[in-house]
Amino acid sequence: MARVLVTGGCGFIGANFVLHLLRTRKDVEVVNLDKLTYAGNLGNLAEAEGHARYRFVRGDIADAGLVEGLLAEGVEAIVNFAAETHVDRSIQDATPFLQANVLGVHTLLRAALRRGGVRFVQVGTDEVYGTLGPSGRFTEESPLLPNNPYAATKAAADGLVRAFHRTHGLDAVITRCTNNYGPFQFPEKAIPLFIGNALEDRPIPVYGDGLHVRDWLYVEDHCRAIEAVWRGGRAGEVYNVGGGNELPNVELARLILRELGKPESLIQFVKDRPGHDRRYALDSARLRAELGWTPAVTLREGIPMTVRWYREHGDWLRQVRSGAYRDYYRQHYHERHGLKA
Ligand code: DAU
Repeated sequence: MARVLVTGGCGFIGANFVLHLLRTRKDVEVVNLDKLTYAGNLGNLAEAEGHARYRFVRGDIADAGLVEGLLAEGVEAIVNFAAETHVDRSIQDATPFLQANVLGVHTLLRAALRRGGVRFVQVGTDEVYGTLGPSGRFTEESPLLPNNPYAATKAAADGLVRAFHRTHGLDAVITRCTNNYGPFQFPEKAIPLFIGNALEDRPIPVYGDGLHVRDWLYVEDHCRAIEAVWRGGRAGEVYNVGGGNELPNVELARLILRELGKPESLIQFVKDRPGHDRRYALDSARLRAELGWTPAVTLREGIPMTVRWYREHGDWLRQVRSGAYRDYYRQHYHERHGLKA
């Protein structure tokens, strides 16, 4: 039985990864360490609660004693999803981003090094490469040129991971993905925000001229990629994970509206995001060639699936949009474990 420490497992991608492992692997035990910030939602892992191979621990990746204690239980890998991730929030205040994405990662790296025999998987982002013109794609050798504070902290994290491998010999790998979408995504991100607003016949805010391009990756495809890199990636290496589904934002908004049978007049062009990267696209040839990964879900398939999921999980969406999901921990988890809130 392999025991893996998933950090940030109550967020969007982390929760999908935990569920992916529990559903598809019988030989993996998951310890989920999550601080339950605004983006962490225990409701995302309701399916995992009570599972014999799953355990939730509430805590901070920057708590060295806690992390070291968990590693001492015999963990073979850390897969780190814990991060502050929303660009617009980092423009308002980057402090929590530095704490989680840089200091938190440093604590995890140090704990892994002290323990020994632990593989470290850092889940990163294409935003570290900066922006592209109309053509070309970033490879793993492209320079890191982050343009917003969030991306700068993720670039710093990647630098630390690389340094711990090169300097201290830590067994570490880095993945860098394009924009994810799918179940349980926090509705501050474009796709669930657009779906949620459209369902309520409210305007869909498209930044600037709407011609910024993102490459969309279905979250389950991303989870398979992370697992492949964890198990087979070369130590010290970076692996790009691209969806291969590029679309300008205004087209994405139209696609979602068509799927919901809502009018295009809901689209509202609003003030642009400062430092807004024009286009992201990744070359994932390394991941394909070395680990045989390919994305399975195209955007034309993934958007209807995702729209259906949010429609069928109206309670989840309403709870998250209203903030009520934050009571889940108090009401549900504490009751279950006979703890005081
Ligand atoms: O590329 C990977 C990155 O994708 C991740 O590292 C980030 O954590 C994740 O937040 C995401 O960054 P983006 O800034 O690209 O995602 P977001 O969903 O915020 O925006 C997607 C695009 O849609 C972007 O060009 C900005 C635009 N947008 C976004 C929002 C929230 C709008 O036009 N209107 C909006 O209201």
